[in-house]
Formats: sequence, C-alpha cells, structure tokens
Amino acid sequence: MPGPGHYLIGKEEEKAILKVIKSGYLFRYGNLSDPQFGAEVWNLEQEIAKYLKSKHVLTVNSGTTALWVALSALGIGPGDEVIVPGYTFIASITSIIFSRAIPVLTEIDESLTLDPKDVEKKITPRTKAIMLVHMLGNPGYINEIKQIADKYNLFLIEDTAQALGATYKGKFAGTYGHLGTYSFNVFKTITAGDGGAVSSEDPELFNKAFAIHDQGHLPLRQGVEMGARTVIGLDFRMTELAAVVLRVQLHKIEFIKSELQQKKQCFKDGIKDIKGLTFRILPDPDGALATLLTVLLPDEGIARKIGTDLKSCVIADSGWHVYNNMEHILAKMTVDEVGCPFTCPYYTEKGGKMEYSKGMLPKTDAILNRAINISIGVSDAGLGAGFGINILSTNDEINQKIETFRKIAEKYLK
Ligand SMILES: Cc1ncc(COP(=O)(O)O)c(C=O)c1O
Repeated sequence: MPGPGHYLIGKEEEKAILKVIKSGYLFRYGNLSDPQFGAEVWNLEQEIAKYLKSKHVLTVNSGTTALWVALSALGIGPGDEVIVPGYTFIASITSIIFSRAIPVLTEIDESLTLDPKDVEKKITPRTKAIMLVHMLGNPGYINEIKQIADKYNLFLIEDTAQALGATYKGKFAGTYGHLGTYSFNVFKTITAGDGGAVSSEDPELFNKAFAIHDQGHLPLRQGVEMGARTVIGLDFRMTELAAVVLRVQLHKIEFIKSELQQKKQCFKDGIKDIKGLTFRILPDPDGALATLLTVLLPDEGIARKIGTDLKSCVIADSGWHVYNNMEHILAKMTVDEVGCPFTCPYYTEKGGKMEYSKGMLPKTDAILNRAINISIGVSDAGLGAGFGINILSTNDEINQKIETFRKIAEKYLK
C-alpha cells in the first residue's frame, strides 16, 4: 500500500538501474574521467536543488537521517529543546532524542500541523528550534511559524518528508526554514524504496551537513582534508542505485501532483455536500500535494462508526503518527541506561524537566478523534488511511468509492 511514486515505477526506472549496474559504479564517488560513471547521486542533488529552487541539496539514506543530520548541522544537542507537533511520524521526535535534545510535544489545529498559538506558549529559555512538519502532503502555517522563530531567534527546520512538491505562497515547502528535510521511502511522493534529502540556502550549513553525512568530508571530498577536518561525521550516504531511480522519479513529480490534485478535487466535490462533514484547513490550498483528503466529523462517536464501516479508523487510532500511541516516547526510553537526554545535567541544571503522558495534548486528541483520512495517493493503514483511491484509479473506481463513502457517512450524519 505505497505512495504515488511507487505506482509509477516502470520501464524507465528499470532501464536506469540496469545502466548503473552495468557501469560498475554503485558508490557515490567514482572516476569522473570515466564516461561510464554517471555521478547519479551528485546529479540528483543538483536536479532536486533546481526543482526546489534551493541553493543546496544533500541526499542521504533516509528521511530520518535527514532530520538527524539537519539537527546536528544546527548544533542542536544536550540542554536544548525542540518544538515538534504531537501528530507526526515518530522520526521527527526520535531524531531530536538521538541528537540528545528534548522534544517538546506541541498541539496541532484543524490544519493537522503545528498550532502557532501553542508553539509560542511552549517556548522556554532552552528552546533552540521549531520543527514544522508538513503533514499529509500539506504545508503548515509557514509564515506564522517563521515569524515566531525569527522573533525568538530560533532555528526553523521543515520536516517535508510527506510533502515534497507541495508549495506555500508559490515557493516550495522545505525551502523557508534554515533546513528542509525530505524522505523517499515507499509511501512518499517519489521513491527509491528508501532515501532522504536535506535542503538549505546557507552554504556553511550545507557544508556541515555534508560532512556529518560523510565522515567529516567536504562536498565531493575535494581538497586535501587530512589534518584539516573540522567536523566529525558518520556514513549516511545515498547509493548510485537509489539515486538513479530517484532521478527518473523526479521527472514524474509534476504529473503526480497534478493527477493527485485533480483526483482529490473530484473526491471532495463528490462528498462536500454531506451535512455535518467538514475538511481539514489547508494553509495554502493551491500548493497542497493532495496525497490525502482528511474529513472532520461532528463528534468522536460518529467518526468512529464511519471509520469502522469504511474498514479504516479515526486518525487518533493510527499507530505510527500520534503521540498517544508512541509508548516508547511517553516512557522516555533511550538506548543507554543513563537516560540522556532527559537526565542530562546540561538539561536539568538549566531547569529542564520533561514529562510526557497520554492525553497531554487535548486539542490534538479532540481533532484526531473525529478525523478520518481518505487515501488519494497514499494508502497507508499506519496513517489511518485504509480507505480511498490511488493515483492510478479510474473515474469509475473513484465514483464507486465516493458512493461507498456517501452511503456510510450519510447513515450516521442524517
Ligand atoms: C513526517 C515524517 N518525518 C520523517 C519521516 C522519516 O522518513 P524515513 O522513513 O525516510 O526515514 C517520515 C516517514 O514516514 C515522515 O512521514
């Protein structure tokens, strides 16, 4: 049950991957004077940057590592707090913990993205960054959140894993903050099975991010670096195999977007007159990627009945994206026995103390308890989107699904 890019994998991707296998160059670095070496990773980075109209793009091996690299490039670490929504994929939160910083779970509103009012309330002297997550293909309140970040001198990271290709006020989501991050896992706009990227307008941040993803090296490992490395890093490099697939997929992205937008509009038009049903707020409806259509029902009881009859569920019950269902986060689990970052003196001595519990974000809970996702291009039970269509659905199939939805919804919304 993958995302739109996966449905479109075909002959072009097959040809491209065979070309790389035959070339013998699977690693991102190769002999530039050998015409067999396609420098697929490097070329993909330039092509994504051109597409996003961003100065710099680095690819990595997942959206999770993209977040970790971004946090590390910004120097976020012990004693720091990062504001993050309580409705997001778990990686937004775990990447903060693995940076040894503290995730501050924050309310969403009916946009299903960060509620700017609660963001401002959650700022403390320890806050270092805001992570705005563009959930379900739609940009959040970028202007409002950016204003808050500027006012309090905070970093802004845009987790754009679910929204590559979405725009806000005519500019790509992910390119407003200090760093934007993206994912190419199988549920995302375009895919190579797994993969990720980081974008930035700042060359210093980009160089640091590059070094962190490749053992402290500068971009392209150019220049003599022995004795001159200023950053330590790990290995989060993308392979030529993943990159060549993504180069082909990138050509399909505008088709994906227009197809999904059209299908979503069709579904929305087919159900919008149902009494009592409303839709999620879109901070910029024109720029939405349209992977999902989120409906809001008048109350939890009705929403649960409709969700069950659709063989789906309310978003609150979707396993992977709701803080209430993240038992290991709520229990402040860490990989070591010391419990860093929660017990770290850099944090506690600055007055920091963090507790998480089910129900700690009542506004988020109230919204997610009465919300259902309809798949347009991402059918994922983990997102609470077990019902819907996909990018290849025909008009007949869409009309059938609209009928099914109407019948079930109208039964409870009389
Ligand atoms: C909002 C969000 N952030 C981060 C990630 C992590 O991406 P990946 O699965 O590529 O590590 C995902 C993936 O589902 C996501 O949806």
